[in-house]
Amino acid sequence: MNRLATRPLIAPSLLAADFARLGEEARAVAAAGADWLHLDVMDGHFVPNITFGPLVVKALRPHTALPLDVHLMIAPADPYLAAFAQAGADHISVHPESGPHLHRTLQQIQALGKKAGVVLNPATPVEAVTHVLDLCDIIMVMTVNPGFGGQRFIASQLAKIATLRGLIDAAGRDIVLQVDGGVTAENAGQALAAGADCLIAGTAIFAAPDYAQAIEGLRAG
Ligand code: DX5
Ligand code: ZN
Repeated sequence: MNRLATRPLIAPSLLAADFARLGEEARAVAAAGADWLHLDVMDGHFVPNITFGPLVVKALRPHTALPLDVHLMIAPADPYLAAFAQAGADHISVHPESGPHLHRTLQQIQALGKKAGVVLNPATPVEAVTHVLDLCDIIMVMTVNPGFGGQRFIASQLAKIATLRGLIDAAGRDIVLQVDGGVTAENAGQALAAGADCLIAGTAIFAAPDYAQAIEGLRAG
Protein backbone atom coordinates (compact mmCIF):
# COMPACT_ATOMS: atom_id res chain seq x y z
CA MET A 1 0.00 0.00 0.00
CA ASN A 2 1.83 3.11 -1.20
CA ARG A 3 5.08 1.58 -0.05
CA LEU A 4 7.00 4.30 -1.82
CA ALA A 5 4.82 7.13 -0.53
CA THR A 6 6.16 9.37 2.21
CA ARG A 7 6.94 7.34 5.29
CA PRO A 8 6.34 7.32 8.12
CA LEU A 9 2.64 7.80 7.72
CA ILE A 10 0.90 9.75 10.48
CA ALA A 11 -2.62 8.78 11.47
CA PRO A 12 -4.23 11.11 14.03
CA SER A 13 -6.72 9.31 16.28
CA LEU A 14 -9.95 11.26 16.57
CA LEU A 15 -10.44 9.73 20.03
CA ALA A 16 -8.59 12.75 21.42
CA ALA A 17 -10.44 15.28 19.25
CA ASP A 18 -13.37 17.47 20.27
CA PHE A 19 -16.31 15.11 19.73
CA ALA A 20 -18.69 18.04 19.32
CA ARG A 21 -16.67 19.19 16.27
CA LEU A 22 -15.48 15.98 14.64
CA GLY A 23 -15.88 17.17 11.05
CA GLU A 24 -13.91 20.31 11.74
CA GLU A 25 -11.21 18.35 13.59
CA ALA A 26 -10.89 15.92 10.67
CA ARG A 27 -10.45 18.80 8.23
CA ALA A 28 -7.92 20.45 10.55
CA VAL A 29 -5.61 17.43 10.78
CA ALA A 30 -5.89 16.83 7.04
CA ALA A 31 -4.79 20.42 6.44
CA ALA A 32 -1.99 19.88 8.98
CA GLY A 33 -0.48 17.02 6.96
CA ALA A 34 -2.11 13.84 8.29
CA ASP A 35 -1.95 10.81 6.01
CA TRP A 36 -4.76 8.69 7.42
CA LEU A 37 -7.55 9.38 9.92
CA HIS A 38 -7.69 6.78 12.69
CA LEU A 39 -11.14 6.01 14.10
CA ASP A 40 -11.40 4.07 17.37
CA VAL A 41 -14.61 2.09 17.63
CA MET A 42 -15.30 0.76 21.16
CA ASP A 43 -18.26 -1.22 22.43
CA GLY A 44 -17.96 -1.23 26.24
CA HIS A 45 -17.60 -5.01 26.06
CA PHE A 46 -14.38 -5.87 24.26
CA VAL A 47 -12.85 -2.78 25.88
CA PRO A 48 -14.09 -0.85 28.92
CA ASN A 49 -15.15 2.26 26.98
CA ILE A 50 -17.75 3.21 24.38
CA THR A 51 -17.16 5.57 21.47
CA PHE A 52 -19.11 5.48 18.19
CA GLY A 53 -20.28 3.24 15.38
CA PRO A 54 -20.87 3.27 11.63
CA LEU A 55 -23.23 6.27 11.74
CA VAL A 56 -20.42 8.55 12.90
CA VAL A 57 -18.01 7.10 10.31
CA LYS A 58 -20.64 7.84 7.65
CA ALA A 59 -21.14 11.37 8.96
CA LEU A 60 -17.38 12.02 8.84
CA ARG A 61 -16.88 10.61 5.34
CA PRO A 62 -17.82 13.80 3.42
CA HIS A 63 -15.50 15.88 5.60
CA THR A 64 -12.23 14.37 4.40
CA ALA A 65 -10.54 12.66 1.49
CA LEU A 66 -8.06 10.99 3.89
CA PRO A 67 -8.31 7.21 4.13
CA LEU A 68 -10.49 6.31 7.12
CA ASP A 69 -8.50 3.84 9.22
CA VAL A 70 -11.10 2.09 11.35
CA HIS A 71 -9.88 0.25 14.45
CA LEU A 72 -12.59 -2.06 15.73
CA MET A 73 -12.45 -2.77 19.46
CA ILE A 74 -15.73 -4.64 19.43
CA ALA A 75 -16.73 -8.28 19.83
CA PRO A 76 -18.08 -9.83 17.79
CA ALA A 77 -16.79 -7.76 14.86
CA ASP A 78 -18.03 -9.85 11.93
CA PRO A 79 -21.69 -8.74 12.04
CA TYR A 80 -20.62 -5.08 11.67
CA LEU A 81 -17.96 -5.29 8.94
CA ALA A 82 -20.39 -4.53 6.10
CA ALA A 83 -21.88 -1.58 7.96
CA PHE A 84 -18.44 0.00 8.46
CA ALA A 85 -17.51 -0.67 4.84
CA GLN A 86 -20.73 0.96 3.62
CA ALA A 87 -20.19 3.88 5.99
CA GLY A 88 -16.96 4.71 4.13
CA ALA A 89 -14.17 2.97 6.03
CA ASP A 90 -11.11 2.37 3.84
CA HIS A 91 -9.23 0.14 6.27
CA ILE A 92 -10.85 -2.14 8.83
CA SER A 93 -8.65 -3.62 11.54
CA VAL A 94 -9.71 -6.24 14.07
CA HIS A 95 -8.25 -7.90 17.14
CA PRO A 96 -7.76 -11.69 16.89
CA GLU A 97 -9.61 -12.00 20.23
CA SER A 98 -12.77 -10.44 18.82
CA GLY A 99 -13.91 -13.59 17.06
CA PRO A 100 -13.09 -17.26 16.58
CA HIS A 101 -12.11 -17.14 12.89
CA LEU A 102 -9.60 -14.38 12.14
CA HIS A 103 -8.80 -15.80 8.71
CA ARG A 104 -12.45 -15.63 7.69
CA THR A 105 -12.86 -12.12 9.14
CA LEU A 106 -9.91 -10.84 7.07
CA GLN A 107 -11.33 -12.51 3.97
CA GLN A 108 -14.64 -10.80 4.61
CA ILE A 109 -13.03 -7.37 4.96
CA GLN A 110 -11.13 -7.85 1.69
CA ALA A 111 -14.27 -9.16 -0.04
CA LEU A 112 -15.91 -5.86 0.92
CA GLY A 113 -13.14 -4.13 -1.04
CA LYS A 114 -11.36 -2.77 2.04
CA LYS A 115 -7.84 -3.06 3.40
CA ALA A 116 -7.72 -5.60 6.23
CA GLY A 117 -5.73 -5.20 9.42
CA VAL A 118 -4.86 -7.24 12.51
CA VAL A 119 -4.28 -5.54 15.87
CA LEU A 120 -2.09 -7.10 18.53
CA ASN A 121 -2.70 -6.21 22.18
CA PRO A 122 0.38 -5.90 24.39
CA ALA A 123 -0.01 -9.49 25.62
CA THR A 124 -0.96 -10.94 22.22
CA PRO A 125 1.93 -12.82 20.63
CA VAL A 126 3.25 -12.22 17.12
CA GLU A 127 2.15 -15.77 16.31
CA ALA A 128 -1.48 -14.59 16.27
CA VAL A 129 -0.76 -13.11 12.86
CA THR A 130 2.00 -15.23 11.33
CA HIS A 131 -0.34 -17.64 9.54
CA VAL A 132 -2.59 -14.94 8.08
CA LEU A 133 0.08 -12.60 6.72
CA ASP A 134 -1.16 -13.26 3.20
CA LEU A 135 -4.48 -11.66 4.13
CA CYS A 136 -3.04 -8.65 5.96
CA ASP A 137 -2.74 -5.17 4.50
CA ILE A 138 -2.05 -3.68 7.92
CA ILE A 139 -0.63 -4.94 11.23
CA MET A 140 -1.11 -2.71 14.26
CA VAL A 141 0.92 -3.10 17.43
CA MET A 142 -0.84 -1.73 20.51
CA THR A 143 1.59 0.10 22.78
CA VAL A 144 -1.15 0.60 25.40
CA ASN A 145 -4.00 -1.63 26.48
CA PRO A 146 -6.88 -0.61 24.23
CA GLY A 147 -9.81 1.38 25.55
CA PHE A 148 -8.52 4.82 26.38
CA GLY A 149 -6.41 7.61 24.95
CA GLY A 150 -3.70 9.38 26.88
CA GLN A 151 -2.01 6.29 28.35
CA ARG A 152 1.71 5.63 28.68
CA PHE A 153 3.62 3.96 25.83
CA ILE A 154 4.56 0.37 26.74
CA ALA A 155 8.17 0.10 25.61
CA SER A 156 8.27 -3.71 25.83
CA GLN A 157 6.33 -3.72 22.55
CA LEU A 158 9.31 -2.36 20.61
CA ALA A 159 10.70 -5.88 20.32
CA LYS A 160 7.39 -7.04 18.86
CA ILE A 161 7.50 -4.24 16.29
CA ALA A 162 11.01 -5.29 15.28
CA THR A 163 10.00 -8.95 14.97
CA LEU A 164 7.02 -8.03 12.80
CA ARG A 165 9.20 -5.79 10.63
CA GLY A 166 11.40 -8.80 9.93
CA LEU A 167 8.43 -11.05 9.17
CA ILE A 168 6.86 -8.50 6.82
CA ASP A 169 10.11 -7.92 4.97
CA ALA A 170 10.71 -11.66 4.67
CA ALA A 171 7.19 -12.15 3.33
CA GLY A 172 7.87 -9.43 0.75
CA ARG A 173 4.31 -8.17 1.10
CA ASP A 174 3.28 -4.53 1.23
CA ILE A 175 1.90 -4.59 4.78
CA VAL A 176 1.81 -1.33 6.71
CA LEU A 177 3.13 -1.74 10.26
CA GLN A 178 1.32 0.62 12.62
CA VAL A 179 1.95 1.58 16.23
CA ASP A 180 -1.00 2.68 18.36
CA GLY A 181 -1.08 4.08 21.87
CA GLY A 182 0.92 6.61 23.83
CA VAL A 183 2.94 7.69 20.81
CA THR A 184 4.69 11.02 21.40
CA ALA A 185 7.51 12.98 19.78
CA GLU A 186 9.74 11.49 22.53
CA ASN A 187 9.14 7.82 21.67
CA ALA A 188 8.25 8.08 17.95
CA GLY A 189 11.91 7.66 17.04
CA GLN A 190 12.12 4.36 18.92
CA ALA A 191 9.00 3.02 17.19
CA LEU A 192 10.35 4.06 13.79
CA ALA A 193 13.79 2.62 14.51
CA ALA A 194 12.12 -0.68 15.42
CA GLY A 195 10.52 -0.70 11.98
CA ALA A 196 7.10 0.92 12.24
CA ASP A 197 5.91 2.77 9.16
CA CYS A 198 2.71 4.37 10.47
CA LEU A 199 2.34 6.21 13.77
CA ILE A 200 -1.13 6.61 15.27
CA ALA A 201 -1.43 9.42 17.78
CA GLY A 202 -4.37 10.99 19.58
CA THR A 203 -3.25 13.08 22.52
CA ALA A 204 0.12 14.02 21.03
CA ILE A 205 -1.69 15.72 18.16
CA PHE A 206 -5.06 16.91 19.43
CA ALA A 207 -3.75 18.24 22.76
CA ALA A 208 -1.03 20.18 20.94
CA PRO A 209 -1.56 23.86 20.18
CA ASP A 210 -0.39 23.42 16.58
CA TYR A 211 -1.50 20.23 14.79
CA ALA A 212 0.92 20.67 11.87
CA GLN A 213 3.89 21.09 14.19
CA ALA A 214 2.81 18.06 16.22
CA ILE A 215 2.46 15.92 13.09
CA GLU A 216 5.86 17.00 11.78
CA GLY A 217 7.40 16.34 15.19
CA LEU A 218 6.16 12.77 15.09
CA ARG A 219 7.19 12.25 11.47
CA ALA A 220 10.70 13.47 12.24
CA GLY A 221 10.91 10.85 15.00
C1 DX5 B 1 -6.62 3.11 22.27
C2 DX5 B 1 -6.73 3.56 20.84
C3 DX5 B 1 -5.67 4.49 20.37
C4 DX5 B 1 -5.53 5.71 21.23
C5 DX5 B 1 -4.45 6.61 20.78
O1 DX5 B 1 -7.57 2.13 22.51
O2 DX5 B 1 -6.72 2.45 19.97
O3 DX5 B 1 -5.89 4.81 19.00
O4 DX5 B 1 -6.70 6.45 21.23
O5 DX5 B 1 -4.50 7.72 21.63
P1 DX5 B 1 -3.20 8.23 22.39
O6 DX5 B 1 -2.27 8.66 21.33
O7 DX5 B 1 -3.70 9.35 23.23
O8 DX5 B 1 -2.67 7.07 23.18
ZN1 ZN C 1 -6.69 2.85 17.79
